[in-house]
Amino acid sequence: MSGEVVVLGVFNADTTYRAERLPRMGETIHGIGFALGPGGKGSNQAVAAAKAGGRTHFITRLGADTFADMAREMWAAAGVVPEATVDPETNTGAALIFVEDGTGDNCIVIAPGAAAKMDASDLNTRAELIETAAVFVTQLEQPLEAAMRGLEIAKGAGTITVFNPAPAMELPDALYPLCDYITPNETEAETLTGVEVTDRETAEKAAQVLMDRGCGAVLMTLGEKGALLVDADGAHHVPIMSAGDVVETTGAGDAFNGGFAVGLAEGLSPREAARFASAVAAISVTRAGAASSMPSRDEVDALLAK
Ligand code: RIB
Repeated sequence: MSGEVVVLGVFNADTTYRAERLPRMGETIHGIGFALGPGGKGSNQAVAAAKAGGRTHFITRLGADTFADMAREMWAAAGVVPEATVDPETNTGAALIFVEDGTGDNCIVIAPGAAAKMDASDLNTRAELIETAAVFVTQLEQPLEAAMRGLEIAKGAGTITVFNPAPAMELPDALYPLCDYITPNETEAETLTGVEVTDRETAEKAAQVLMDRGCGAVLMTLGEKGALLVDADGAHHVPIMSAGDVVETTGAGDAFNGGFAVGLAEGLSPREAARFASAVAAISVTRAGAASSMPSRDEVDALLAK
């Protein structure tokens, strides 16, 4: 019997532009394609978790607009239970995403709208939900105050905490001991620790800095090099999996975090949960879009069985 996953974060309507390269400032270039679809790191992670088989709740704030309608329809289809406060004074989140056509790599600007006003009260009113969950997950697209409060409630109740420090920013010392798992990518690890992550040795060094600050374990995503799990049992490399050609990497980290949360909620060991996460991410990058690229449990199981 698996426990529930509770995710705190932001929904964004992703406006995605595919082009050969980024324009320079003041320049206009022709793009190759455009798509409007559901995104936002927290929402993507909740969708990844729900589609991978986790009973998943998502705490956020929305505006009262068509982007909020898009969020609700998509969550219903994915099986995410929304815990969304509506703020009619503000817009639902939106993101500008540039995808480089040759590589599928991306860069992003977010405007979280209503979710940018989240604070401790959004978590205090859902304390029981967090306290009875198996796993609590959050990131940093909503204010740090909300992330901290969610992690405090979860940690205090023995709910496993997964903190994805994205986008990276300077963090208070008190946050690190609230993280059973911290899940930065290489860039985020460098921002947090000052250690430039270029290979396994530097990844382990950055992970050790985070452990020394009080994190229980570090699961660092390393792009095409897979991931590195560092915990009390030592360092373990999580190999990358392939499910086909890479189309778009937007949301790959979210797929990984959502999958990892489900693995932990089902009682897998951290290493097994990281392998499960790797399979979820591997399938997501073979499809365009963020939330819409998240695989079903059957697809994940099929890849893991190969
Ligand atoms: O991690 C990818 C996500 O980052 C996108 O969906 C975008 O909305 C931003 O939040």
